[in-house]
Amino acid sequence: MSAAPVTVARDGDLALVTIDNPPVNATSTAVRAGLLRAVDEVAGARLAILRCAGKTFVAGGDMSEFDALPVEPHLPDVIQAIEDSTVPFLALMHGSVLGGGFEIAMGCAWRIAERGTRFGLPEVNVGLVPGAGGTQRAPRLVGMALAIDMAASGRMVSAPEMLEAGGLDAVFDGDAEAAARDFAADLPARPMKVSARETVPMGAAALEAKRAEIAKRAKGQQSPLLNLEALQWALLPFEKGQPRERALHLDLRQSDESRALRHAFFAEREVSRPAALKGAEPRNISRVAVIGGGLMGAGIAAAGLSGGYAVTLIERDAEAAAAAQARVSGLIEGTVKRGKLSAEKAAAQQARFTASAGYDAARDADLAIEAVFEDLDTKRAVFDALADVMRPDAILATNTSYLDPCDIFAGIASPERCLGLHFFSPAHVMKLLEVVPLPETAPEVLATGFSLGKALRKVSVLAGICDGFIGNRMLAEYRRLAEYLLADGCLPGDVDAAARALGLPMGPFELQDLTGLQIAWANRLRQAATRDPAQRYVTIADRLCEMGRLGQRSGKGWYDYEEGSRAPVPSPEVQAVIQGYSRDQGLTRTPLDKDEISTRILAVLANEGARIVEDGIAESDAAVDMVQIHGYGFPRRRGGPMHAAGAVGWDRIAATMAWIAEESPGSWVLSEQVKGAL
Ligand code: NAI
Repeated sequence: MSAAPVTVARDGDLALVTIDNPPVNATSTAVRAGLLRAVDEVAGARLAILRCAGKTFVAGGDMSEFDALPVEPHLPDVIQAIEDSTVPFLALMHGSVLGGGFEIAMGCAWRIAERGTRFGLPEVNVGLVPGAGGTQRAPRLVGMALAIDMAASGRMVSAPEMLEAGGLDAVFDGDAEAAARDFAADLPARPMKVSARETVPMGAAALEAKRAEIAKRAKGQQSPLLNLEALQWALLPFEKGQPRERALHLDLRQSDESRALRHAFFAEREVSRPAALKGAEPRNISRVAVIGGGLMGAGIAAAGLSGGYAVTLIERDAEAAAAAQARVSGLIEGTVKRGKLSAEKAAAQQARFTASAGYDAARDADLAIEAVFEDLDTKRAVFDALADVMRPDAILATNTSYLDPCDIFAGIASPERCLGLHFFSPAHVMKLLEVVPLPETAPEVLATGFSLGKALRKVSVLAGICDGFIGNRMLAEYRRLAEYLLADGCLPGDVDAAARALGLPMGPFELQDLTGLQIAWANRLRQAATRDPAQRYVTIADRLCEMGRLGQRSGKGWYDYEEGSRAPVPSPEVQAVIQGYSRDQGLTRTPLDKDEISTRILAVLANEGARIVEDGIAESDAAVDMVQIHGYGFPRRRGGPMHAAGAVGWDRIAATMAWIAEESPGSWVLSEQVKGAL
């Protein structure tokens, strides 16, 4: 980085103001101070051209400064100085113009941008409203409707759309300096300052419709509606609206929601670069073989195709291969129907895909991902066959949920090329990928797992080997708690409502009804012989399975379902089973309120998350949080269970966990974190 992040140079009657603050030219304190100085330094020029070095224009504020008190000069004052400057400013933009970047651009007299430039006010995504006039200038410049899209929904806008909306004076291709010079050569009359323009209000009905749409999509997050509110202050004079926006921005920096969303933002970056990858170069991968084209294999194949790989899918026989082919095509077509993929790109994906029976098809693959039945012998036979046909250094990966990858790969030549790549269902949609190295896995193979995850636009998390890795190990504890709650006085509807109150998309019982109870039942039967006899085991779920209540597909499970409906209806039969169980066990049923159940759910998740970190299965609390947010629907606005436990207070979490453990002696192991907070 150059010593001064903002420099001013002269070129005849033009002043060139350059921001150079890698990686994204964020508006740090030094940049703000530099810009303010630049406003003085351009004095006497005919035009000041504001541009950025590197890959992008200013792509946001420096979020690492947001926890502390704001330091002068404040961005609104800097932008005001640019807007009021006697020398008019031209914003010359490329890359991403985000947050403070777009606010600065709106303070300039003119704006021109390279064709590929993208514009956004993404503060909403981290629980904030813009803090330097974004909600006040945008409606004046581009109209209320687009401003709402940008600030309240966080939508990115292309340069042509921005031009069309009046937010740009020109879009250029190629040489930026030449474009700026051309513009300067024929400079229009200086337009009215954006802050002095009139805001055209949106019709009441249209505004209400927007409000309803935003509220629906917000899923309990408050910042989208707060942005909508702040945008309406643009109907006031700027000097009234702008300080209100600023005050709200500063308040929100301290809010639980913004802290949680900022934590999630940083955690995503942190987990993508685990210490174990230091110095390891990923290998180049272009051809991927997927073995097994069921629910998971088809999703993994579709994900691979959208990541740009050539994918070949191998099934047991021609009939199964044809079914898998149809499944993958269906997923691609579904993405087109949802408007997420053009027909042209879909055709290109289909052209890169083949499905067949027989392992020969894997011969040229750089990487094979196995997703056959969850059975050790079946999986071992698959890898034996793959090892016979593939290059000896080709990477072999298993998508197993619960088996030990070391057992799966035992006996394979060159185990340094083996690892677990654990996807989540549906694999072409869910963003989580647990990357599970064996003790022998080579660093560059591990790095390749992460680079694959990146190409598939997943959040990859390094996970150690244990029963269920990170996510499913936590899920098992959560489910156990849910069953204890039933035995001790709650009903499925109580627990599900409390889980939703926590922000989970669905409660544990609704979810089991959706996915079916039989797999977990088979698992429990298998584990019966080795289960710790001291641990409490609740047989209510087994009883329901014996009664044929296997979930939605069998028409009944934890709930009843009316013919053709997916809406869960509380079941008197299930209630009788639950109450009968409590009676037979001599338990006094004590119902709990929603808050108490939510806190217990959080306590169990956080306790197990802490144990997972203490056991070295996850690298950090942040890794646990990312697994829960991206694999299990834990609400991002709470930052994940570890962050949420901190926000609630570990002392309260610890007290709750101690109480849960006391109620079921021998059934829970307290983490050191919880013990330390007692
Ligand atoms: P599935 O039963 O839907 O699909 C398995 C597929 O493998 C079937 O199409 C079957 O014909 C094929 N297959 C079996 N043996 C084969 C062989 N020798 N060669 C080629 N193909 C063969 O199962 P699902 O749900 O897709 O699970 C697959 C794996 O993914 C399992 O290890 C499972 O634990 C794991 N997994 C499952 C998740 C889920 O939510 N269902 C989530 C994450 C991992």
